[in-house]
Amino acid sequence: MTRDTSPKHGVPQHNRDAIIDRMTNEEIQQPSAFELIGGAAKLREMVDRFYDLMDLEPDFAGIRALHPSSLDGSRDKLYWFLSGWTGGPNLYIEQFGHPRLRARHLPYAIASGERDQWLRCMASAMQEVGVDEALKLRLMQSFSDTADWMRNKPE
Ligand code: HEM
Repeated sequence: MTRDTSPKHGVPQHNRDAIIDRMTNEEIQQPSAFELIGGAAKLREMVDRFYDLMDLEPDFAGIRALHPSSLDGSRDKLYWFLSGWTGGPNLYIEQFGHPRLRARHLPYAIASGERDQWLRCMASAMQEVGVDEALKLRLMQSFSDTADWMRNKPE
């Protein structure tokens, strides 16, 4: 099953109000989340902070334990993925094809607790690198949908 929950599509109506003032024509001129965040360097900074926090904060030890001892590959893959997912260069798909995210997460046991740790870790990373509030809301909505869909373990 595939499902596009990326922030360039499916921005829910209740969050559109927060970003509508940036737009002259939603269909034609809506800037991508990739552009709004500040491009490649800022997105990489956000991903790096996400994994730094996962590595450092006891609150995220549960999801840290699911990852390999070195997070280098995880950093690259999430950055490549989010680049395309936010409407920037399709770095992940160019290298690996369709992300099949749910299938790729099946080896890792994910229930609501893991989902919520991942989302809190990402919210903190966005806060710390200074992602604009309206954009943070928009991205968190898309991350929440995707993380929820990744659950694969009984509660
Ligand atoms: C719901 C909680 C989540 C948990 C516990 C989780 C955990 C993991 C783990 C353990 C890996 C393997 C890392 C590695 O091989 O280095 C991984 C890979 C990945 N995750 Fe997640 N993840 C979650 C949610 C998400 C979400 C919401 C996204 C995207 C918005 C995402 C995107 C990715 C990507 C792109 C990869 C690399 C896939 C590959 O090519 O192997 N994950 N995740």
